[in-house]
Amino acid sequence: MASHSPTFEAVPIERVRKFWNDRPCNIRHSPKPLGTKEYFDEVEARKYFVEPHIPRFADFPRWRGKRVLEIGCGIGTDTINFARHGAFVTAVELSERSLEIAQKRAEVYGLQDRIQFVWGNVEELSDYVSIEPYDLIYSFGVLHHTPHPERALAQLRQYAHPETELKIMVYHRYSWKVFWILLKYAKGRFWEAEKWIARYSEAQEGSPVTYTYTRREIKALLSQADFDVKEMWVDHIFPYRIPDYVQYRYVKVWYFRWMPQWLFRLLERQFGWHLCVTAVPRF
Ligand SMILES: C[S@@+](CC[C@H](N)C(=O)[O-])C[C@H]1O[C@@H](n2cnc3c(N)ncnc32)[C@H](O)[C@@H]1O
Repeated sequence: MASHSPTFEAVPIERVRKFWNDRPCNIRHSPKPLGTKEYFDEVEARKYFVEPHIPRFADFPRWRGKRVLEIGCGIGTDTINFARHGAFVTAVELSERSLEIAQKRAEVYGLQDRIQFVWGNVEELSDYVSIEPYDLIYSFGVLHHTPHPERALAQLRQYAHPETELKIMVYHRYSWKVFWILLKYAKGRFWEAEKWIARYSEAQEGSPVTYTYTRREIKALLSQADFDVKEMWVDHIFPYRIPDYVQYRYVKVWYFRWMPQWLFRLLERQFGWHLCVTAVPRF
């Protein structure tokens, strides 16, 4: 299920691209007309309300005046925030539909001069982006969706200088979400876990590639690409009732409603879905 999987390795990148073109990540985060400032403002507000650990992890103000290479920018929520805080961003994305929306977003906020958008597959990054050092290499929720994450990391390593930080979020195997998928959909068929986790990992059903990792596995994968882990933590359990959530209402499921906040946070930090890793290159 982790760094290598014959099932996921055999998936053509075109299938991954099609999946994200059919429904770009977070595209339904606002009911306002797509491409307007109101739409993008709402997308951002919802994303950081539901995933407040993202600004904490990305630490946008820290990258003012620095060069950021973002992989899998999606519709550009974090991209815009890096640029807004004064970074110079190269944002790479496989789904051209997502990329178009992210580009429009940069125009809407007048940030297009700070962001270079590139369409491409991270596994062949050097075919699309010239090899130059970046201060931050950032990829949130992306590398577990590419068929060969180890190829992606080997590519990323070429863009690192001795002070570079790599910040990635990958999905966490020992998580509430995996437990829930195995219980609800796999109905205990643990030997098919990989298939069920991928199918139900995203807002839309049927992701063709979704790896999950333990702390040990991601550390080993990074080490193979000559990165050493500096910090690693787990966060994020989604507590809301889906029928309300899709109507833009935030009503927690009953057991989370009654759970004290401190206990919920304890659970999130132990069994969250997001494994947030900061690593540095080995020279
Ligand atoms: C879960 S979304 C995350 C988007 C964005 N990082 C965010 O947090 O909103 C995953 C994104 O990774 C992109 N992606 C998947 N495989 C990729 C690859 N091989 N190269 C570049 N982008 C890829 C998808 O197109 C999709 O937009």
